[in-house]
Amino acid sequence: MATQTAPGALITEPHAGVGLQGRLRTAPWWLLPLTVVSVLGAFTVYAIWTAFFSGGVNQAGPYLSPFYSPLIWATGPITPALWVLWSPLLFRATCYYYRKAYYRSFFWDPPACAVGELRYREYRGEAHFPLFLNNLHRFFLYAVLVVTGFLWYDVFLAFWDPKTGHVQLGLGTFIMLGNVTLLSLYTFGCHSLRHLSGGGLDCYSQGRFGMARFRAWSAVTVLNLRHAMWAWLSMFSVVLTDIYIHMLRAGWFIDPHVVF
Ligand code: FES
Repeated sequence: MATQTAPGALITEPHAGVGLQGRLRTAPWWLLPLTVVSVLGAFTVYAIWTAFFSGGVNQAGPYLSPFYSPLIWATGPITPALWVLWSPLLFRATCYYYRKAYYRSFFWDPPACAVGELRYREYRGEAHFPLFLNNLHRFFLYAVLVVTGFLWYDVFLAFWDPKTGHVQLGLGTFIMLGNVTLLSLYTFGCHSLRHLSGGGLDCYSQGRFGMARFRAWSAVTVLNLRHAMWAWLSMFSVVLTDIYIHMLRAGWFIDPHVVF
């Protein structure tokens, strides 16, 4: 139970082992919503620019931008990114963590714990249009699992020098590897995947493939505990990877690499 007194001051009833002092908000309540709006807004603007206005497929040497992978119909009047971007973007837009972040930050519904809503409306949850569409999250998960497979394939290709066919290790290789690792940590910690692997069972030892499902559920749970962190880190890494490949493509410098 929490009550609001003045902005920035959160009062909660102390739980066992956690004193009131440990639950006081130390930063102004509006700082987090403001940060989320700024970062998500900047990401949206960047995604639109790189997909529609950056001059075609963002690819340099063996590196393909995650915004364009898998590369379907590289030529034509429609940007190839459009065939790909819908699934990761809708996956993130319907993600349980991002929902919390943007309901608070963009809709002020409410903006923070123990802070009043922007306007009072009867609580309807996500049972009505358009919010019930968020329930499609698990279907976007299926699509993103396929995309993640392609991103790992892109990393495999990034280990090969396209001119000589020899193994190469470049800064871009490591950037792409780090990016797909963070994306996988985010995707495989998804709440829907957690339910898929372990939900609907009363007792693992009695169910079909019970122990295998228990192990899968346990692994997803480990990642799920830090889902918010992976959500932000993977979003930053996608942008950084794209920027790096843009710089190579523009000829600003040569990718430092060794060929074996
Ligand atoms: S809940 Fe966040 S990706 Fe599924």
